[in-house]
Amino acid sequence: MDKLRIKGGYALKGEINISGAKNAALPILCAGLLTADTVTLSNVPKLNDIATTLKLLRQLGVRCERASDDLVSITANQLTALEAPYELVKTMRASILVLGPLLARFGEARVSLPGGCAIGQRPVDQHIQGLAALGADIKIEHGFVVAKAKKLKGAVVRTDMVTVTGTENLMMAAVLADGQTILENAAREPEVVDLAELLIKMGARIKGHGTDRIVIDGVSSLHGATHEVIPDRIEAGSFLCAVGAAGGEIVLRHAAPETMGATISKLQEAGLTIKSGKDWIQASMHKRPKAVDFRTHEYPGFATDMQAQLMALNTLAEGTSVIAETIFENRFMHVQELLRLGANIDIDGHTAVVRGVTRLSGATVMATDLRASASLVIAGLAAEGETLVERIYHLDRGYERMEHKLSALGAHIERISS
Ligand code: EPZ
Repeated sequence: MDKLRIKGGYALKGEINISGAKNAALPILCAGLLTADTVTLSNVPKLNDIATTLKLLRQLGVRCERASDDLVSITANQLTALEAPYELVKTMRASILVLGPLLARFGEARVSLPGGCAIGQRPVDQHIQGLAALGADIKIEHGFVVAKAKKLKGAVVRTDMVTVTGTENLMMAAVLADGQTILENAAREPEVVDLAELLIKMGARIKGHGTDRIVIDGVSSLHGATHEVIPDRIEAGSFLCAVGAAGGEIVLRHAAPETMGATISKLQEAGLTIKSGKDWIQASMHKRPKAVDFRTHEYPGFATDMQAQLMALNTLAEGTSVIAETIFENRFMHVQELLRLGANIDIDGHTAVVRGVTRLSGATVMATDLRASASLVIAGLAAEGETLVERIYHLDRGYERMEHKLSALGAHIERISS
């Protein structure tokens, strides 16, 4: 398994391009199942999760071509299967996103239950209840979600909690249903909006995306479209935390600052100087960060996907910070590893109290999940001496060539391939 070796203590300087958003590209690739025409996507990041999704679509018989580094075309005109197998789904729970489109277009789908993951049990009961509300005959059999529906019927669906992929699955199911569907308590994430924008280009009739009430009027079929995936706000936020911890001055190109309000204001509170334009962000830090309290929240609140990264910054900050993780039940796996680097953190249930220290010292640490990996890299950039981050296959799921981008900014970081 690959590792990253980081020599800490070097400020960052320079500029890098932000890649397309993983969490927009994943549902958008699955939306290609909704038409026999070709859907052409640009700004698709080269990530392991994207490769897994393309592998799953190919197993269904979808023609997937990566014409260039970031251009992907999807043509679902000759499907040979309607099943997402456990072997694939267990490696990426977002595979559940084929359920809605398969059911909407083909009237049936068999998708393995994803099972939990490091950050939590992560059930899909809301997806199932929502599809049942749309008229699907849906049950769990032998570890699979088995769904059938001659024709889905529009309905008012209110999820018990805000669920990003739940909203996306139900939106993709509703676009071909008979009549009107209203999704209440819908997720407002920019990635949900990006999916809706693609679906509208494909001929869907959707209003209210970006709010907690999305109205979808079903149509009989969808056609092909061309779409550019939005920039990854979590990748961008991770690099902002990196310059906050290591110091220096960086520019992020191809970014979308308007989707990063909560992250940018928290980092300004921590002491970063941040300027931004339409598609760029400039951030500099030349002093010790200040401790910032925060609690994770659905968009537009502070993203849970940024929690581990900002915690890494807080470990070095002046003062004590209190962090509340309100979305997932077990998203503090990075804490044990940050302690190995000399951080001072106490966990009490869903709250972490971080007492800032003046220095971290490099050590060997183990990545446990995607954003925890980023947190350890950020801490390693600031730690004295050498930090070895193991099991970085977690990192490769959601960050495109992170070590290359950090090296371009002057970090001393290299991949050790096993
Ligand atoms: C999406 O996961 C993201 N993944 C996650 O990003 C992100 O952390 C999460 O949203 C929250 O923002 C993708 O978009 C592919 P949820 P998702 O359904 O949709 C509970 C990353 O790092 N819930 O919004 O799976 C759930 O357990 C990944 O890029 C149910 O109980 O998250 C959680 O506590 C990690 N039943 C809460 O809701 C359901 O049916 C929010 O989960 C669905 C969700």
